Amino acid sequence: MPVVKKATLLIKNIGQLITMAGPVPRIGNNMTELGLIEKGGIAVAGDEILAVGESEKVEGHAPLAEGCTVIDANGMVVTPGFIDPHTHPVFSMTREKEFEMRIQGKSYMEIAQSGGGIRASVRDLRTTPVEVLMEKTKSRLDRFLEHGITTIEAKSGYGLSTESEMKQLKIIDDLNQLHPIEMVPTFLGAHEVPDEYRDCRDEYISLLINEMIPAVTGEGLAEFSDIFCEEGVYDIEESRRIQQAAADAGLKLKFHADELKSTGGAELAASKKARSADHLVNISEAGSKALAHSGTAAVLLPGTTFSLGGKQYAPARKMIESGVVVALSTDCNPGSSYTESLSVVISLAALQMKMTAAEAISAVTVNAAYAVGREERIGQLRENYQADITMWNMSDYRELPYHYGVNLTGRVIKKGKPVVER
Ligand code: NIG
Ligand code: FE
Repeated sequence: MPVVKKATLLIKNIGQLITMAGPVPRIGNNMTELGLIEKGGIAVAGDEILAVGESEKVEGHAPLAEGCTVIDANGMVVTPGFIDPHTHPVFSMTREKEFEMRIQGKSYMEIAQSGGGIRASVRDLRTTPVEVLMEKTKSRLDRFLEHGITTIEAKSGYGLSTESEMKQLKIIDDLNQLHPIEMVPTFLGAHEVPDEYRDCRDEYISLLINEMIPAVTGEGLAEFSDIFCEEGVYDIEESRRIQQAAADAGLKLKFHADELKSTGGAELAASKKARSADHLVNISEAGSKALAHSGTAAVLLPGTTFSLGGKQYAPARKMIESGVVVALSTDCNPGSSYTESLSVVISLAALQMKMTAAEAISAVTVNAAYAVGREERIGQLRENYQADITMWNMSDYRELPYHYGVNLTGRVIKKGKPVVER
């Protein structure tokens, strides 16, 4: 006898059920396809989705397990749990002083080159006890979850020594066991050149290649390797060498590319078949074409441009028209973008990059799942996918960019379990 799965959770009366079922990743016009079901319902068995469809059909079809939780959505909007594909969440010291310096006219790079920026965060992280870092990171994870985000990519990059990079990655690993948020770990040892190697940067690059990457992969602490490929940080040739070593060690690749200047970072990411190239405010025409061709996702971070006081945003419309896979992220970090709200990012994407609500939702669900290599399990509400679900206090999904600066999350379900109720 086949075992009939019974529903442990049933959500009925959903006003707009945004399933995102359809092509993955979403490119071009397909980004507006939400797989929307009106008067929808979802049945969940354990941590997986059992059935999705019209509420009455789902209710009639799925046998309920004893003690099944039934939620009446009462006309709410429901989406897959949002996915944030680019964050730097492990830090203690915040950098509001730098924020104020920028308001008064200093640039991000000027502050970095005078010893502030990432290097200031590194000095702080190295001396901060693990328990303090755990506590502060955990409160950030709580905030992500409260904003309807159920998975984040999480980078190291504030250690810049074997020991301190491992310290950050182990915190990510430990919190992954303790917290409902799922984290995709990324090694970012090439986030900057640390103070002690400023006069001998080649030695730091050797350390990255010969000691840090093997240590990280040896303990299985990262899935991706990322690099800050930017004028004044790591140039194209250095980035190519470091990322080749990471790929040879089995890591998938991401690049911080073409953020402040156009240096050919997108082209390099494409040539290395990276999963994503991120920032891309100054991407070239050729870079855009290269990403479309290689299927490398463009993770756009309008919150960073906003928080750096920039005027020019990444050319999202051009990329969408060129067939690039576009995703959106907070870039949550203490320097250039301190927020755990993808909703704010979606408002900025709408107003500053002219992305519609539907495109932005594609960018934080299916395309974000693709950018972190999890598209076969999350980012859509469909049978056998992981039951990561966000219920929104709104009756039309277009309210998301429009009603800005407030948290419209209602309930959040991670792996079939209610984890937030607001
Ligand atoms: O993505 N660009 C490099 N890294 C971060 C900033 C990190 C920091 O300033 O602490 C970013 O913007
Ligand atoms: Fe970043």
